[in-house]
Amino acid sequence: MHIRTIAWQRDAVKIIDQTKLPQRLEYLYIKDLKSLWQAIKLMRIRGAPALGAAAALGVYLGIRDSKTKDFKQFKKELEKAISFLGTSRPTARNLFWGLERMHRAATINKDKAIPRIKEILFKEAQKIIEEDRVTCRRIGYYGAKLIKDKDTILTICNAGILATIDYGTALGVVYRAKEEKKRIKVYACETRPMLQGSRLTTWELKKNGIDVTLICDNMAATLMRQGKITKVITGADRIAANGDSANKIGTYNLAVLSRYHKVPFFVAAPASTFDLSIKSGKSIPIEQRSEREVTELFFKLPIAEKNIKVFNPAFDVTDNALITAIITDKGIIRPPYFKNIRKIIKNIFRDTLSFG
Ligand code: MRU
Repeated sequence: MHIRTIAWQRDAVKIIDQTKLPQRLEYLYIKDLKSLWQAIKLMRIRGAPALGAAAALGVYLGIRDSKTKDFKQFKKELEKAISFLGTSRPTARNLFWGLERMHRAATINKDKAIPRIKEILFKEAQKIIEEDRVTCRRIGYYGAKLIKDKDTILTICNAGILATIDYGTALGVVYRAKEEKKRIKVYACETRPMLQGSRLTTWELKKNGIDVTLICDNMAATLMRQGKITKVITGADRIAANGDSANKIGTYNLAVLSRYHKVPFFVAAPASTFDLSIKSGKSIPIEQRSEREVTELFFKLPIAEKNIKVFNPAFDVTDNALITAIITDKGIIRPPYFKNIRKIIKNIFRDTLSFG
């Protein structure tokens, strides 16, 4: 299946509207910064690496019509767009990494004419997109080494094509294993409340010929007790210097269950998901989302008492001690994480700036 989650086309940011899946594969053409911000907020585009690309293209949308010829003024406009995009969703490190790359691309070229800087920024966003395609395939390459013929993999949320540009992180490992002719099965947690597992993961796995079975989130323990799961692989939104990893709410449950049932638990993520400026998962900002995601089925059908109190964190943090290994585009990282992450994820550390 050759689809791209995000691209530049017809002078606009073209995205798959993921809120319409699996009923319809519908594309949106976004031409202004505010609409892009909304698309991120409403999860029309989502998944950490895809958010990095969206943020970068969003910065370009934010400055492309700037009239100024003065770099100081241009920088002000650029930073306004960057700060605005930074308020869309707080947890995915990749989003801020994308913003930082755009900021850096502008400032190191500050002596050039503004139209030239705009071109450079456009190219930088394109580079982020192209790099992601390679990065995910590298994750797939390293990750598939851990997969045996006839493995049955449990995953949560969507860390696939739809969360990246066109291949995926956790699901990239699955795709690569299939390309290597390994016979594998996947169980997908539906992933309440926004159902990325049932709506998105099953959709793309089925389209790519992967044997996938959908389960409700509360069925994972039973599957493990029955010995049906040989590996758990999830994505990540932000990984701290000690390996603590934030991912979709419910990931931590799976990690605890995996430990009890002695099932290896893997996290797959690119270097751009690491936040080496924070020591542990305690400092990862966790997005709290609307109560309506829990009390209504997709903002349509009420499924709870009116005015009920709701707790709706979008992510949780899995302690490094529960993670068997982290699969990255630079290789597989095993414990002790604090030491080994620093060895492998060097340049991201050096490049880290301070937008979030
Ligand atoms: O709220 P979402 O759908 O953006 O959450 C996405 C996830 O939790 C993914 O697992 C994570 O971003 C990794 S995507 C390769």
